[in-house]
Amino acid sequence: LQTLPPIQLAQRYFQIFPEERDPIWQDPCEDKRHKDIWSKEKTCDRFPKLLIIGPQKTGTTALYLFLGMHPDLTSNYPSKETFEEIQFFNGRNYHKGIDWYMEYFPLPSNTSSDFYFEKSANYFDSEVAARRAAALLPKAKIITILINPADRAYSWYQHQRAHDDPVAQKYTFHNVITAVHDSPIKLKVLQNRCLVPGLYATHLQRWLNYYHPSQILVLDGQLLRTEPASVMEKIQKFLGLTNTVNYHKILAFDPKKGFWCQLLDGGKTKCLGKSKGRRYPDMDSDSRSFLREYYREHNVELSKLLYKMGQPLPSWLREELLHTR
Ligand code: A3P
Repeated sequence: LQTLPPIQLAQRYFQIFPEERDPIWQDPCEDKRHKDIWSKEKTCDRFPKLLIIGPQKTGTTALYLFLGMHPDLTSNYPSKETFEEIQFFNGRNYHKGIDWYMEYFPLPSNTSSDFYFEKSANYFDSEVAARRAAALLPKAKIITILINPADRAYSWYQHQRAHDDPVAQKYTFHNVITAVHDSPIKLKVLQNRCLVPGLYATHLQRWLNYYHPSQILVLDGQLLRTEPASVMEKIQKFLGLTNTVNYHKILAFDPKKGFWCQLLDGGKTKCLGKSKGRRYPDMDSDSRSFLREYYREHNVELSKLLYKMGQPLPSWLREELLHTR
């Protein structure tokens, strides 16, 4: 019997099985053989039970803040690079392994009622996040927030302008969304980042390939914005929390901000920063019509998917569907 030294052996192995180059982390406690070799010092209770997957610009930060106000829910520690988001399942961080991921959550207390959650808004439209998340967290609950994809695209464009992105500075929103195939590459990149996350049915279907529909809650982002307390009630039921918090008492509408904020002792409010809930002009009507057409089929597909999942259609989707008749 002949063999190669370890490194050459590994190289040879991955030449023969290139599809296995990308690791997939499973919950070490789901398989006895893995559990037996898993350090006794470690625990499988240091993983989140809830993921807020995005997409970006739909109110994910507000939801993250509101959930963190619940005494039974604990969010991840912030990241130096990506602030409140860990961004583990979608990108290169995944290769840092599950110990790296677990470090973002507190060591569980002995009473072990800890309910950890994290939100990384680009999980939603990632090609790989659903598969990876389901391998590590098969029992997790998943929340996604959907607003009109046209408004999401516009909010993203405004976000890029506010960050002085030269492409967003140079081109109007209409230029960006209508850019043709052979436009400058940077313009195409911005166009994709405006438009692709809004293909909701495609992305949601990817999550449904790995999670049972009862594990996924689809929220109406419009409602989260205007009636957050009722949305929080729905979420608490979905999570099966017994200690129900009345968010009517701990949130207040701040007229100056124009959004709902955390109500502090003494009647003051703590709102999200300037980058959340920006003020910018309304979308022009040509862009609105273009995007209505662009997303028409996808929105019809989304409504079918939600129907199959037994989830109500968001108000903005009902409105968009009226335009398809
Ligand atoms: P705009 O800044 O374009 O209005 P995310 O946190 O996922 O990036 O989403 C940002 C969006 O959340 C904001 O987009 C805003 O419309 C929306 N939002 C919903 N509820 C909010 C709240 N209570 N405070 C601030 N922004 C809120």
